[in-house]
Amino acid sequence: MSENIRNKVVVIVGASSGLGEALARRLAKDGAKLMLGARRAQRLQKIVADLQLPQDAFLPTDVTDPAQVQALVDQAVALYGRIDVIVNNAGLMPHSLLERRQLNDWNAMIDINLRGVLHGIAAALPYMQEQKSGHIINTSSVAGHRVRPGSAVYAATKTAVRVISEGLRQEVKPYNIRTTIISPGAVLSELVDSITDADVAKGTRDYYNQVAISAESFASVVAFAISQPAEVDINEILFRPTQQEG
Ligand SMILES: NC(=O)c1ccc[n+]([C@@H]2O[C@H](COP(=O)([O-])OP(=O)(O)OC[C@H]3O[C@@H](n4cnc5c(N)ncnc54)[C@H](OP(=O)(O)O)[C@@H]3O)[C@@H](O)[C@H]2O)c1
Repeated sequence: MSENIRNKVVVIVGASSGLGEALARRLAKDGAKLMLGARRAQRLQKIVADLQLPQDAFLPTDVTDPAQVQALVDQAVALYGRIDVIVNNAGLMPHSLLERRQLNDWNAMIDINLRGVLHGIAAALPYMQEQKSGHIINTSSVAGHRVRPGSAVYAATKTAVRVISEGLRQEVKPYNIRTTIISPGAVLSELVDSITDADVAKGTRDYYNQVAISAESFASVVAFAISQPAEVDINEILFRPTQQEG
């Protein structure tokens, strides 16, 4: 399976912890050429050192700034000569009831979970059109399929990621570009730390401690999508812990 991953140039946006970090570690084992982006430079530097990647294989990147995401993709192309895959994975999940009026959290989710994904698409697409090949992978969520009290804005951003990905899928056919939506359920990471309401954070943390599965689950699902033969386009994967009901 790793044969179709070896030597592919993969940009992972949101690679400094959790799902993105696990993916970087997995794809490095499979022989991919990686470029890692996120805000925390020290985290990225450590992953690059652990994986013995070229020292330029990361760039501190804030996805709310399209120029920074473009610079990340440009650096991948400068270092490796092309871009085969971008994984738009940066996100946060500050759940709270709408009546708590957490406007800063709402705006951050729109800026990072939604606009951040668009910035990744905008940065990678021209290269992939020129190459007539590429693969754009966007991280949505089970929350992109269903909404619950407390998750309205998060679910809206993750639903939007699915809608944009499906529109993209149809538009990029002439360029031989593949698109994949990954919709995980509860997976262990630092995501729960982004919840600002103390009671919601506690409830979510307790739930994750009971049911969440390891971030390697995400890595193997993404590796599956990337490793398919060029003519096979895996468009969406929804996965959950076996114990997760909703
Ligand atoms: N864990 C789950 O249960 C679960 C379930 C469904 C979907 N997801 C999705 O999976 C993705 C990864 O989350 P995770 O669970 O791995 O949580 P995490 O450990 O908190 O990782 C989030 C990643 O996003 C990056 N990020 C956040 N804001 C950013 C910004 N402004 N610019 C650039 N990077 C930014 C973080 O890096 P910096 O802080 O260093 O910038 C980090 O690398 C998210 O989109 C999340 O919504 C997770």
